[in-house]
Amino acid sequence: MKRSGKVTVIGSGFYGSTTALRLAEYDIFETVVLTDIVEGKPEGLALDMNQSRSIEGFETKVIGATTTAEGGGYEATANSDVVVITAGLPRKPGMSRMDLIGVNAGIVRGVAENIAKHSPNAVIIVVSNPLDEMTALTQIATQFPYNRVMGQAGMLDTARFTHFVAEKLAVEVGSVKTLTLGSHGDTMVPVPSRCTVNGQPLTNFLSEADIAELVDRTRNGGAEVVALLKTGSAYYAPSAAAARMAKAVIEDSGAVMPVCAWVDGEYGISGVYLGVEAEIGRNGIRKVVEGNLTASELEALKVAAEAVRAKQSDVKDL
Ligand code: NAI
Ligand code: 2OP
Repeated sequence: MKRSGKVTVIGSGFYGSTTALRLAEYDIFETVVLTDIVEGKPEGLALDMNQSRSIEGFETKVIGATTTAEGGGYEATANSDVVVITAGLPRKPGMSRMDLIGVNAGIVRGVAENIAKHSPNAVIIVVSNPLDEMTALTQIATQFPYNRVMGQAGMLDTARFTHFVAEKLAVEVGSVKTLTLGSHGDTMVPVPSRCTVNGQPLTNFLSEADIAELVDRTRNGGAEVVALLKTGSAYYAPSAAAARMAKAVIEDSGAVMPVCAWVDGEYGISGVYLGVEAEIGRNGIRKVVEGNLTASELEALKVAAEAVRAKQSDVKDL
């Protein structure tokens, strides 16, 4: 089997370590690099993952590297094709994603500058919260073209929506298709008109009230997990989402996924990072894919765009 490319995951916490393992287990990359500022943590996790290779049957090598906020240790990440940024604090119960902005902006800015220095041609997938703002900040800090910086949120929110629909109808998740757009926050826009079960509209199976309940649960999907875990936030579904995005990049697959992408005229919205469907390839976002929305869904997307635009306009000063 031909393996190619180097993917770096910044941050070896729950999100970063599960993402690195998923990427290694795909067995399509030459190298997966995992970093953290906690000395020895990425090296220890990498050693552990490498020792699972003969059991799980993958050859991709995982390299752990301790880094410093000043940029020490980033040589190990040099010339990465894809970089996933997970560094930063997760939420605690009762916190919104926006409560993390001050501390995470400092972390993400520093990380982004180091990536730009060592991997100037990388495609960056941001996951640190608040997601829409950290994605915008990463583009500003790296000065990479917009297509090479995207955020992970829509894949996760959509997967949650799909799970809730499948569970409610007691059908296989594979028979359900859903979609969420907008922000990874209060102005998330679940899109019931684009949801189907075995190709049939969701409205054939569920009442408006039932759909509204599932939409609400999806919008609060992250907080529901945080409240149960009490320390930290979700990472199994989030890491699956980020890993699939990285896979689409390295395989230049053209897969269409809901991601946080720079929007430049689509849906009549311009100049903002927003959750939309996009075609993913070797250079990141090939194009934003504009799907059919009802008038109320389009209106909600525009409201989301203005809400995140207001917050993103401040990130350059963070
Ligand atoms: P965690 O606390 O388990 O791990 C964060 C890691 O980042 C820690 O190991 C920490 O030492 C490391 N770190 C801090 N500063 C660093 C730096 N400058 N360089 C390298 N590493 C650094 O948190 P977890 O669960 O892994 O979450 C990470 C981030 O992802 C959080 O901001 C969380 O809110 C976000 N998240 C985003 C989701 C999304 O859908 N976009 C979903 C779930 C979490
Ligand atoms: C989530 O949605 C906290 O953003 C994180 O699980």
